[in-house]
Amino acid sequence: MSTDQGKNGDQMVSPNGVAGQPERRYAQIVGWGCHVPEKVITNKDLEQIVDTNDEWIRSRTGIEQRHVAADPKETTASLAIKAARKALETADVYPRHVDLIICATSSPEHTFPSTASIVQDALGAVNAGAFDLSAACSGFVYGLALARGLILAGDAEYVLVIGSETLSRIVDWTDRNTCILFGDGAGALLVAASNVPGGIQATVLGSDGSGADALTLPAGGSAMPASLETVSNGSHYIKMDGKAVFRFAVRVMADATRQVLEKAGLTVADVDLVIPHQANKRIIQNSILRQLKIPEEKVFINLQKYGNTSTASIPLALCEAIEAGKVKPGQNIVFVGFGAGLSWAAAAIQWSVPVEKREYGWWRSYQRRATYQAAAARSMWKRALRRVYSQVLPTPDQDEWPEASPAKEKEGSD
Ligand code: ACO
Repeated sequence: MSTDQGKNGDQMVSPNGVAGQPERRYAQIVGWGCHVPEKVITNKDLEQIVDTNDEWIRSRTGIEQRHVAADPKETTASLAIKAARKALETADVYPRHVDLIICATSSPEHTFPSTASIVQDALGAVNAGAFDLSAACSGFVYGLALARGLILAGDAEYVLVIGSETLSRIVDWTDRNTCILFGDGAGALLVAASNVPGGIQATVLGSDGSGADALTLPAGGSAMPASLETVSNGSHYIKMDGKAVFRFAVRVMADATRQVLEKAGLTVADVDLVIPHQANKRIIQNSILRQLKIPEEKVFINLQKYGNTSTASIPLALCEAIEAGKVKPGQNIVFVGFGAGLSWAAAAIQWSVPVEKREYGWWRSYQRRATYQAAAARSMWKRALRRVYSQVLPTPDQDEWPEASPAKEKEGSD
């Protein structure tokens, strides 16, 4: 067996196992981090903006306040970068070891480039691929499913899965049906290859596109490009049939949880903790508590503080559950979410890593800060160089590109 001591103290699988004896791989969550903007908007604040009231919002949703990115410099990428840095820090893994960054988001920085690429550059994750994942609020669990698949296949050692949102920028603050629900924030988990049994045991992904109209951001894509008309009629904001989404969510949250438990060889009685998508307390009560009969103390809810942060809601809740001492090695944990698409996703996790905060000392923090400063300097240098190449130097002619030597070509074709 060929293993090396993992950065978090676990036995990590070596990319070079002993020939003929493939090591069983597991996908463990080894790092976690989250970040929310400072500005808080309470239900009382919303009373000043739309025809609503604190009592209605609390009783119909459970939400008391939400964080919003009030500073224009706070963007989906900037929140994601902060959450990702914390996740790498808890795992004590350097960005250069990350193989892939998946950023699940419903409010990306741009249609392209991907928010994940911006995060990759800021982290200095020079060996990582990066892409955004669009599956609305289910996106984070979709990302975990991909991370697990790549790790189990031996195609990646470390995958950073991020959920990050600035939904406040795509919410119509005059529409009381939607503006009371959403908040901004980011959460990130580092998934690592390990030979310690446990980790992400099973996942379930689902979609029913017949419900695409129930929750949509109509304009800004290729079907309805942004125009004066789309802006003036507010088609660039979230539109939602709340009742239809509610009914769908209650059914699918219970079904997806049952399915993922069955896939993992577990029963509802084996579950120690459920971390559901934090959309509406009544959805969680009607699905997880009433249908599955999972007791309240096994279900983590923090939507009263953050509202629905879409892809960020599950990692944000996990970070708080860890802080609250609700997560312990050996526990069976279920993540379950739903969202636009319509879509749903669930993951069954056997938690296997220590959750105690570790102190790394000043030298490690200094190294980390230096890594990020070096990443920023590298990025600036590359941008400047690219500008010089494209603005000052002529485009090179075909014959200026080095040709592969016949010997090299032959080597490649063997
Ligand atoms: N404040 C005060 N009254 C309100 C508000 C408000 N913000 N919104 C609606 N009302 C009124 C309605 O006008 C209605 O009044 P009426 O009876 O006089 O007509 C009454 O309250 C009840 O309205 P409903 O729409 O039936 O309220 P409901 O109990 O369904 O709650 C809600 C609405 C909270 C939107 C709920 O349907 C819900 O949570 N749906 C799911 C939404 C969701 O989770 N979306 C995110 C999906 S994840 C993603 O991909 C982003």
